[in-house]
Amino acid sequence: MSNLTDRYNRHLNYLRISVTDRCNLRCVYCLPRNFVPKLPHQDILTYEEILRIVRAAVPLGISKIRITGGEPLVRKGICDFLKELSEVKGLSDISVTTNGVFLKENIESIRSAGVKRINISLDTLNREKFKEITGQDCFGNVWESILLAEEAGFDPVKINVVALRGINDDELADIAALSFSHPFHIRFIEYMPIGKAAYQHSDKGMLAPEIIDRLSRLGKLLPVANGINDGPAERYRFEGAKGEVGLIRPLSRHFCCKCNRLRLTASGQLRTCLLSDRQEDIKTPLRKGCSDSELADIFIKAVRLKPFEHKLTVSHSDEVSAQMSAIGG
Ligand code: GTP
Ligand code: 5AD
Ligand code: SF4
Repeated sequence: MSNLTDRYNRHLNYLRISVTDRCNLRCVYCLPRNFVPKLPHQDILTYEEILRIVRAAVPLGISKIRITGGEPLVRKGICDFLKELSEVKGLSDISVTTNGVFLKENIESIRSAGVKRINISLDTLNREKFKEITGQDCFGNVWESILLAEEAGFDPVKINVVALRGINDDELADIAALSFSHPFHIRFIEYMPIGKAAYQHSDKGMLAPEIIDRLSRLGKLLPVANGINDGPAERYRFEGAKGEVGLIRPLSRHFCCKCNRLRLTASGQLRTCLLSDRQEDIKTPLRKGCSDSELADIFIKAVRLKPFEHKLTVSHSDEVSAQMSAIGG
């Protein structure tokens, strides 16, 4: 049992760190098109501050870190930061979630910084559709980055697809079919209606049974057992495929009972649940010069208050006011 075991006996060993609330894209499920991130520079944790928090969290039991955004690769100095992070003793896994647009030019540095696995968002294989979904004409960059990530040896390369009716539902099987020719883990994600985007797209979400139905024309989905380090995805493989497909189903079968995650936002707030607005301020005490043991106490207090499960449903979409882009998914 670690210091970060909550009231429901969940061991929280995984910290997701959002290094920026900014993003170069405006994916329909995440942000309204005209959205402007609000955090001024001085409100964003510096890399030194993040490293200090990580060093305080490791002795408590944090061993896995995922770097998220916004889009983490828009923040200057991210590769040097990853290198420093990889030198923190006690971390067994450092990974990155990115939209892939700026991955190509950073891929060698990210790999040599010790990041072994990477998650990339890609909701369509069609250039025009990509532009509609994200607001930018960048399909080519992302696809090239995905292939380079495979070549560079990231293992696995996970591809995140948010399933949206009337937007990419006609392509779900085509995207899943990539798992025959590439060792990708392609994960279909149920849309979580949170933040400002929630009100615009609440009718577009697709639940896992319908997604599975769309994939079933490719063959039988054979279940793959989850490993101890696995996240929320239910894993499957098509016979003869090099890669896998997965379902992340926060609405139709949520995975809260085995949740092992904490989140640090770019503004220095510790969130114990993606889908609860409750957070503990860590930046203010940090900037007032608190000790490492005071930092540890903030983690321990937050973990004590972690909710058992979220309350988000398809029809109850006003549960979380924070933007997905400010939390990092
Ligand atoms: P690994 O398991 O470490 O590979 O990461 P992941 O799949 O959790 O990370 P990623 O950032 O790629 O997120 C994939 C999707 O899962 C996104 O839509 C996230 O919002 C969602 N997700 C990740 N963690 C949680 C969680 O704790 N709760 C909920 N409800 N959704 C999550
Ligand atoms: N619902 C589900 N997944 C989302 N993501 C972003 N917003 C949402 C949402 N509202 C996913 C993106 C990205 C990951 C970090 O979170 O696809 O890959
Ligand atoms: Fe964990 Fe909250 Fe996600 Fe449930 S919704 S899995 S409690 S972060």
